[in-house]
Order: sequence, then C-alpha cells, then structure tokens
Amino acid sequence: MKDILQELEDRRDQARLGGGEKRIASQHAKGKLTARERIELLLDEDSFEEFDMFVAHRCTDFGMEKERPAGDGVVTGWGTINGRMVYVFSQDFTVFGGSLSETHAQKICKIMDMAVQNGAPVIGINDSGGARIQEGVASLGGYADVFQRNVLASGVVPQISVIMGPCAGGAVYSPAMTDFIFMVKDTSYMFVTGPDVVKTVTNEVVTAEELGGASTHARKSSVADAAFENDVEALTEVRRLVDFLPLNNRQKPPVRPFFDDPSRIDESLGTLIPDNANTPYDMKELILKLADEGDFYEIQEEFAKNILTGFIRLEGSTVGVVANQPMVLAGCLDIDSSRKAARFVRFCDAFEIPILTLVDVPGFLPGTVQEYGGVIKHGAKLLFAYGEATVPKVTLITRKAYGGAYDVMASKHLRGDFNYAWPTAEIAVMGAKGATEILYRSEIGDAEKIAARAQDYEDRFANPFVAAEKGFVDEVIMPQSSRKRICRAFASLRGKSLQNPWKKHDNIPL
Ligand code: HXC
Repeated sequence: MKDILQELEDRRDQARLGGGEKRIASQHAKGKLTARERIELLLDEDSFEEFDMFVAHRCTDFGMEKERPAGDGVVTGWGTINGRMVYVFSQDFTVFGGSLSETHAQKICKIMDMAVQNGAPVIGINDSGGARIQEGVASLGGYADVFQRNVLASGVVPQISVIMGPCAGGAVYSPAMTDFIFMVKDTSYMFVTGPDVVKTVTNEVVTAEELGGASTHARKSSVADAAFENDVEALTEVRRLVDFLPLNNRQKPPVRPFFDDPSRIDESLGTLIPDNANTPYDMKELILKLADEGDFYEIQEEFAKNILTGFIRLEGSTVGVVANQPMVLAGCLDIDSSRKAARFVRFCDAFEIPILTLVDVPGFLPGTVQEYGGVIKHGAKLLFAYGEATVPKVTLITRKAYGGAYDVMASKHLRGDFNYAWPTAEIAVMGAKGATEILYRSEIGDAEKIAARAQDYEDRFANPFVAAEKGFVDEVIMPQSSRKRICRAFASLRGKSLQNPWKKHDNIPL
C-alpha cells in the first residue's frame, strides 16, 4: 500500500515538473512564470483542484511515442478567487512549447464544459507555440473544438484570456472570442502571421513586439483590453476584475461590503464644468467621485480615449460605466469609441450588470476617414447595443448632448430608466455656432447679426429644460448630489424586469 501511495506522489512530482528543470529555468530567464506558478498567483491559496494531471498525448509520428509527459502541456482545473469559483487552464510552455495537441485541447474542453454546466467563469492562460506540429490536423481539430465552446459559452459565463507568451496563427481566435484579453508587455504577442511571413508577403519589416505586442494591441488594435508590466501584475488584475463580475448569466453581480456613504455630497462637483463650454475637463474625476471608495476598474484605458469604459461599485454592487471624455477629441463619438463602448455595453447587458452613462458629447467626428471607415455602421453598434440592453440604465448629461450622439448615449428614447441632467447640460441638434450658420446662411457676412442669432439659439437650447419639459430628462439634479441620486436610482431598479421580443438572435451591424 505504502508503495502505491508513494508511486502516486512520484507521478505527481514528475507531472509538476512539466518539461523539466532546464526548461523551467529558461522560462524564468525570459521573465515568465511557469504554468503552475501562474495558477498559484491567480487563485486563492490552496484552492486549486487539478483535473487530468496524467493525460498524455496519443501521437506516434516523428518519434513522439517516446516522449509522453504527464499533463500534455496544459494544467487545468478549478479553484477560487476571493472565495468565488473559477475554472482555469494554463498552458505549459516547457512541454512542447505549450503547443496544442488533440489531448491538450480535450483537457481545455473538459473544463469549459464544466464551467458552462456549473456556471463559473473560465480563465485561460495562454503561452503556446500554437498547433502541435507533429499532430497535424488532429491539433487543428482540437483548436476548433475549443473555438466552438468559446462561442457557446459566450454570454453564459465570463471568459477571460491572459496572454503570457506567444499566441500565433489560428490560436489567437480563441482568446479573440472571449470577453477580456490581458497581455504582458515584452513577453507576449498575438498575430495571425508572424514577422517573417509579413516580410515575405508584404515586404514590411516589423518586429514581433511592434506587430503583435501588448502595447500594440492595447493602444492600436484594441484586441487587448489591458497591457501589464509582468505576469504578477496581470494575474493580480485578473483577480480584481473577477471580483466585479457575476459568475454566470443567471446570477446578479456580487455585492461586496462598502464603506462609502451612498448619500455622500461632493461639493467639488459644483465646479467641475468650466465656465467656457469649449474648455475640457476630466470626466474620470466624476467617475471616481461617484464610485464607492473611488474605485474604478477601467477597460481599454489605452484605446479610444475619447470614451471611458469600466466598472465601479455603487452601494457595493457592480455598475458598468460608459462616459464621454471631453479631454480627448472633445469627447466626440467616432469609429473606435463606438466599437469600444458597444462591446462593453453588450457585455454588461449579457451579464446583468447595470449601466451608468455619463454624457458630454458634441456629436460624431466628421470627415472622410470616419465615413470611409464606416462610422455609420460602427456608430450604429453603440446605438444598437444601448437599444437592446434590458439592464437598469441610468444616464447623466453633464454638458453637451448634441445631435445623433444625444440619442445614442442611453437616451430616454432608448429605454433609459433614469435620465438625469445637470443644470449645465445643453441638449440640442448641434452647437449654437453651427446651427445659426445653417439657419441664417444669408446673414453669415454680418458678424453682429450672426452673434445675436447664436446668442438667441443658446438662450433657447443651451440648457436641459427644453428636454425636461418634454420628459426626455426625468430630473435636473444638482451636481453635488449626483452620487446620492444615482445610487437611489439604481437601488430602485433592482427589481427591473424587461424582455425584448422573442427572436433567434439579433443582427447587430458588424
Ligand atoms: C510542437 C513546438 C511548437 C509547436 C514550439 N515547440 N512550438 N513543438 N509544435 N507548434 C517546441 C520547440 O520544438 C521547443 O522544443 C520548445 O517548444 C520551445 O520552442 P523554442 O522554439 O525553443 O522557443 P522560442 O525560441 O521561445 O520560440 C517560441 C516560438 C517558436 C516563437 C513559439 O517555437 C515557434 O515559432 N514555434 C512554431 C510556431 C508555429 O508556427 N506554430 C504553428 C502556428 S499555426 P524543445 O524540445 O527544444 O524544448 C497554428 C494553427 C492553429 O497554430 C490553427 C487553429 C485554427
């Protein structure tokens, strides 16, 4: 009996070594942690329960039958993050470069199936040379099996991808179908074809980092939601993110203890809006002042900075925030910001996370670049996302809400539940100057007359009261009491129940 127990321990020790000490040292030398070290950092201490530790590949080509390491290059199982259950897979680069074989894929699929069945998020830690070359099509099939599960799990359980090494070829498409992608600077990259192929096909010379590094994807492509300095930081931030999220689409987001008075009055908000309507101010300041304990978890901070997206808590409950940022491009909507916000709104709606929208938007960005790029379709994504969302929606217009962008930004007409405005709000088809130049084109030569016309227009429309008269704004509120009013609004919506007409699925403009 003792021998049998000892054999189990020996086998476990062997499996834990993955590709061996030399390769572990090489992994460390690159500034990367091993698959198991990452799981340890991600999960609560001693909470990890492993599956399939002894699974080995079945390949017999290229002499592979002689090397069958236990685990086959991926560590899978479940554990907890601050006491809440998650499933996790972590690819082990020390075993065949973390490459994906048929059995490696089966291990991932097993925990994905369990996650959907049992209603818990899936966190995938990717560090892999892609399809296991020796296995050929079996490995491609394995990828597709994972892709199919990504699709079916989408909107059922949160899926988070952490890219902590190479991720190339078709391998990038599994992360791309998950809800959030985190990358690590300098040690991770994602691309469909690497620099060598790029050079051959297009003659472009580009490094892996430039082509698909963390900064590239967090700033330029928006494939990544965030880029972190190292493995430890990335995993700590995943833990923080998970704390905001419900475990599945049947549960409400978690409610955590809070130490911030929901009725807190913030006098400084009375002077947040500058006297000059064209002077920018930092919308993040408002978000931080509204949030419990000033805690804002920003998503895609580095991309389309003219719109802010992320999570806060109000009275301990998660709320998704979408806010125009007047500091960048005057807060206007464009292709990138519409895409960014639309995806965020849809995530919140899928997982029953209420949405707070803070509006200061002068309209859509004009120009050929935007029109040729399809701003109509991309802007429609955000419009569509807000229009279909059935979660509680509270909107606050702080200053400008002009034109189509007024409609888009969770207006009353898109089933906003509470639509508040500050007294500084200006709700109109466009700014006074533009409006008078169109309405009084024949008077353009007469500066005095035009100025008087603009003043007239401003007096009539540069306020929230025309909209309030029509009931499009439910209430004009004092900036100082915004937190209190918004907390009460969301509290009153906890029992909200709203259903869209039955359909197979919608046809959001893609
Ligand atoms: C089998 C692989 C492998 C792979 C790496 N290894 N990639 N084994 N299949 N795809 C092995 C290496 O042989 C090596 O084994 C170990 O992993 C570490 O690899 P190195 O090359 O020494 O490491 P490094 O220099 O850090 O380079 C890492 C790398 C490189 C950039 C990932 O290995 C590489 O380019 N690999 C091939 C990538 C690739 O083309 N994959 C297929 C993509 S197509 P030893 O024994 O020496 O430690 C694809 C299709 C998916 O994925 C389609 C889905 C639809």
